[in-house]
Amino acid sequence: MTRTAYDTVAESYADLVRDELEGRHLEHALLATFADRVSTGGVLEVGCGTGRITDQLHRLGLDVAGMDLSPNMIEVAQREHPHLRFDVGSMEALDAGDSSLAGIVAWYSIIHTPPHQLSKIFAELHRVLMPEGLLLLAFQAGNERVRLEQAYGHSVSYDAYRLDPDMVAGMLVEANFEVDVRVHRAPMGYESTPQAFLLARKQTS
Ligand SMILES: C[S@@+](CC[C@H](N)C(=O)[O-])C[C@H]1O[C@@H](n2cnc3c(N)ncnc32)[C@H](O)[C@@H]1O
Repeated sequence: MTRTAYDTVAESYADLVRDELEGRHLEHALLATFADRVSTGGVLEVGCGTGRITDQLHRLGLDVAGMDLSPNMIEVAQREHPHLRFDVGSMEALDAGDSSLAGIVAWYSIIHTPPHQLSKIFAELHRVLMPEGLLLLAFQAGNERVRLEQAYGHSVSYDAYRLDPDMVAGMLVEANFEVDVRVHRAPMGYESTPQAFLLARKQTS
């Protein structure tokens, strides 16, 4: 359902979000904080879509690649950012070895996973991160499932979940992360919900 929806909207999504980070100083600061704190090593954006955040992480000096469920999103990402590597995949089963990555960014990409399945994803992200590896999450804050029938100018059918930041932080702790930074901001512009950002660090004991 999610893959089909993003395959449908890929070209329009790229046009609509290409410049969305412009003027978003808080988001820039969060990505810069991640880039500043992450250790030397590979970084993966999981659910990278058309690659705008992957490219921003690259501009911040990181050795970063992108991965997404949707082949069409990846095709657009590769076309728009030919200097970067993008692969089709799922964050439920990453094509990466244990403790192989210095950092992972999931920027509005855990939002289509039913909340009760997030612990499986956090366990997988924990597996591939190095000890002390960093994880940055962005998501719409709330506590509801939204069925999307229209998105980015297309008829689609898929779900998005507004997530309670306390619940997500608790799940990260359960998965053996320490939450270093929690940010919650009011909606801006077209947004209808507050936005949440969590920066967490892999623990090993
Ligand atoms: C709202 S878009 C965000 C894309 C990008 N991070 C950005 O901010 O522009 C959500 C993306 O997450 C991807 N996605 C959702 N569930 C996924 C999963 N289990 N594994 C990999 N990608 C996933 C979707 O295909 C979609 O491209």
